[in-house]
Amino acid sequence: MDYRKKISLLFEEPFDRKEIYSLLARPKEEKMGDFALPCFTLAKKAGENPVALAKKFSETLERPSFISSIEPAGGFLNFKIKDEELATSVIGEIFEKGENYGSSDEGKGRVICIDYSSINIAKPFHIGHLLTTVIGAALYRIYGFLGYKPYGINHLGDYGTQFGKMISAYKRWGNKDDIEKRGVTALNELYVRFHSEAEKDESLNDEGRHYFKLIEQGDSECVKIFEWFKKITLEEVNKVYERLGVKFDSYNGESFYNDKMEPVLEELSQKGLLKESDGAQVVELDGMPPCLLKKADGATLYATRDIAAAFYRKKTYDFYKCLYVVAYQQNLHFKQFFKVIELMGYDWAKDLQHIAFGMVSLEDGTLSTRKGKVVLLDEVLNKAVEKSLKIITEKNPDLKDREKIAEMIGVGAVIFFALFNGRIKDIVFSYDKVLTFDGETGPYVQYTCARCSSILEKGGKYDFKKFNPSAILNQEGRSIYSALALFPEKVKEAAEKNEPCVITRYITDIAQRFNKFYIEHKIIEGSKEEINAKLCLTYAVRRVIINGFNLLGIKAPDRM
Ligand code: ARG
Repeated sequence: MDYRKKISLLFEEPFDRKEIYSLLARPKEEKMGDFALPCFTLAKKAGENPVALAKKFSETLERPSFISSIEPAGGFLNFKIKDEELATSVIGEIFEKGENYGSSDEGKGRVICIDYSSINIAKPFHIGHLLTTVIGAALYRIYGFLGYKPYGINHLGDYGTQFGKMISAYKRWGNKDDIEKRGVTALNELYVRFHSEAEKDESLNDEGRHYFKLIEQGDSECVKIFEWFKKITLEEVNKVYERLGVKFDSYNGESFYNDKMEPVLEELSQKGLLKESDGAQVVELDGMPPCLLKKADGATLYATRDIAAAFYRKKTYDFYKCLYVVAYQQNLHFKQFFKVIELMGYDWAKDLQHIAFGMVSLEDGTLSTRKGKVVLLDEVLNKAVEKSLKIITEKNPDLKDREKIAEMIGVGAVIFFALFNGRIKDIVFSYDKVLTFDGETGPYVQYTCARCSSILEKGGKYDFKKFNPSAILNQEGRSIYSALALFPEKVKEAAEKNEPCVITRYITDIAQRFNKFYIEHKIIEGSKEEINAKLCLTYAVRRVIINGFNLLGIKAPDRM
């Protein structure tokens, strides 16, 4: 139900209905109404005072049956939709659209490339990767829900001398069976050992460089070992991706651009942008350090591959936007290489966007990546699931399928935690805090959703065709259906800001509102008609929470 449209039609010449449509917004405070029209620009054009204009509108506008009040407030004009009208249209729309409530086709025909997770081969998949992985995957689903064609890219870190060093270490001290068994942990130990041995014997570094050259030249033995490292790493991370419900359309990593950098460097040089500096090739930039693209020894860099990748993506997918979900520590890197592409004269440089985020640390000390000691993401999930199992066993000893439900709660709690705050905030992870059943947590919202499921099960049949809203036209009821109406806008806002937390916070708010209603109004009590209305509301709440969960990648158990 497009109330903005309907309200804009109340206005006559000389006021422009289209302008009014786009000016209509949600009032700052809920109690002021459902829509607010700021009268400032309208008044300026009409040569009037905004306060006077708002007052005049309130006195002269027609009041159609769907509106209960039109009130001026300073330079604003506030509209309130009639309760029964709003309840019926919102809940009706949720019944009609179901799992598609909140979706749209505004992005039709537009590709959004999303570079997220982007792990490094032979390196542990740790808690530091949590945010890029779940923020990227949530954006992927959110854009998809809005009709865009998202394209998920895991830009693997699979290029560089470190892989030559890994081969050297493997040849010297490696054990095939051990690596097959312990996977990336064993690979990472080899890497750590290489570094400590190289401190004593510098020639090791030359050996590493030599092996890296061999990989680049396609030497069959070295490539085979490297491909095996890659396979081991991907098998391990894929298990975690599966638990988190994360998918990719491409695993083209840095090495994929091996043969795509030279043409870019060529073009840069033709355009007079490439300068020599101490034997290295750089692009000088205003107000930032130069972007280094080729070292004196001829080696290319991370930035060189990112520039080649951006060109490849533009050519291959013709993206509308290309997002890079990467920690804010890399701010400068992205600023630099975006600028290089802009200097080359490509206006699509403006469509490259760094989606930065803050750091996660653990309550019991920050994560340490030195000396190979890191907190693996898989272990964090395991521990969260284990603790969830304990909690639900205590709360509900007869619960069936307990292991499955604990997996949903534990993993969901971690995702919820990661997506609850604005991206840029540094956050501290605590098992106890993310797993508590009351507060702004995943389990709290899941529990509310399970409560809805069990009410609907106990309440028996409900039917929107017989919906009469009178039993929910109280304060607590209105606070729910007026908030449910906002879901489509929230999904859009999440995409505009690239902030999944808009949705996390929104469904938390819905859960809180529903629980207030639940305490005040016994749902399965009263006349048939009253119960039906309350069950329809409960259905709508459950539906919207699940639609939100689906976008975040959180599962909703029916019981817990
Ligand atoms: N592998 C990189 C890292 O761990 C992240 C890559 C991000 N994506 C990109 N296109 N640069 O720091």
